[in-house]
Amino acid sequence: MSTTAIKSIVAREVLDSRGNPTVACRVTLKSGATAEAMVPSGASTGAHEAIELRDGGNRYRGKGVLKAVKNVNNIIAPELKGMDATKQRALDGLMIQMDGTKNKSKFGANAILSVSLALAQAVAVHRRMPLWKSLRKTYSFSHKPSLPVPTMNVLNGGEHAGWSLDVQECMIVPQMKKMTDRIRAGAETFHVLAKLLKAKGYATTVGDEGGFAPKLKNVEEAFELLVQAIREAGYQPGKDIALASDVASTEMYDANKQIYNFRTEGKSFTAAELLKRYQEWQKKYPIVSLEDIFAEDDWEGWKKSVPVLGKKCALVGDDFFVTNVERLSRGIKEKAANAILIKLNQIGSLTETVAAIEMAHKAGFAVSVSHRSGETADTTIADLAVASGAAYIKTGSLSRSDRVEKYNRLLAIEMEMAGK
Ligand code: PGA
Ligand code: ZN
Repeated sequence: MSTTAIKSIVAREVLDSRGNPTVACRVTLKSGATAEAMVPSGASTGAHEAIELRDGGNRYRGKGVLKAVKNVNNIIAPELKGMDATKQRALDGLMIQMDGTKNKSKFGANAILSVSLALAQAVAVHRRMPLWKSLRKTYSFSHKPSLPVPTMNVLNGGEHAGWSLDVQECMIVPQMKKMTDRIRAGAETFHVLAKLLKAKGYATTVGDEGGFAPKLKNVEEAFELLVQAIREAGYQPGKDIALASDVASTEMYDANKQIYNFRTEGKSFTAAELLKRYQEWQKKYPIVSLEDIFAEDDWEGWKKSVPVLGKKCALVGDDFFVTNVERLSRGIKEKAANAILIKLNQIGSLTETVAAIEMAHKAGFAVSVSHRSGETADTTIADLAVASGAAYIKTGSLSRSDRVEKYNRLLAIEMEMAGK
């Protein structure tokens, strides 16, 4: 048996940043190399995502994951034991085949992904390599490794903040060359924003992703505040720090009436009206990225938006593409967006996630590797973003360890890349 043979795979139930159960999995190799991965969990999930298996019943108010844990320990682990952990593609493929469903509903995407990520991490430990380097040994990426530009969600709304604001996320996007400078600029702006909010009598309590969640009038007020915070922090809006937003519009869409309800503002928009409003945002504010601007199945809305908004702005499909190559290939063919959000647990294995990244890169789509609103201390996404040469990473605000851990990992990777 080779030293990279799988000795054991052990899953268990742990908590995510919202206090809900999620799956952790430890993989140990014959060499003694061992690592544990933890799976994230979304709140504003897309209908086309792979299935996150939950137990139902009374335990943890139905949110337990003991079934997924059992699927790992009783079914996946015995099958994979003894196999070569470095064969990540084959092992992910085997788990997908054993599950046998299109959406991983038998084992649960949370079960399969926990094993998939723990395999990659244990192999990196065995290779004595940082994860991003080990991933590049496992997969052949078309792009060079690079440090992604962070899109920092400093104002939380929608499902993540009790609908304090209609759009889910208003982000700052530092444009500096070095990661250390990007993170410093983000954190400084975040603190100035707190001061501004306090001065205006707004709350500075935070939402699920560590951003502030004041009850603002509308998203325009949010953008105004961000521009002001950037200036007062000593940076130039647009040049030093740009803006971005995840509208998460699937959450607002009334499919029967074909309208988008901005409930906090008390206004409704047709797709055409909404497109006009986005144009106005682009005119007024230095926006470089807009996500889920139309609902997950509103293909017409998306297609019409690309020629109008897509010239200088990433139009990012999250719920729209769900990290799924079938949906992404249609989006590429129909020119329905120009960027994709990548979330490991939307599809449920590392190999399929890499396939989506590569398909996007080959089509010239921008890639943003993303956390979920329910996170853990796991920092795999930082390494994946670097390894794949993704343009962006989206991992929340500059507070709360579940978000900041990823930024800290990027700071470490910057040093690793410099050979320090
Ligand atoms: P989610 O939100 O993790 O709750 O889906 C993040 C996003 O919509 O980008
Ligand atoms: Zn989103």
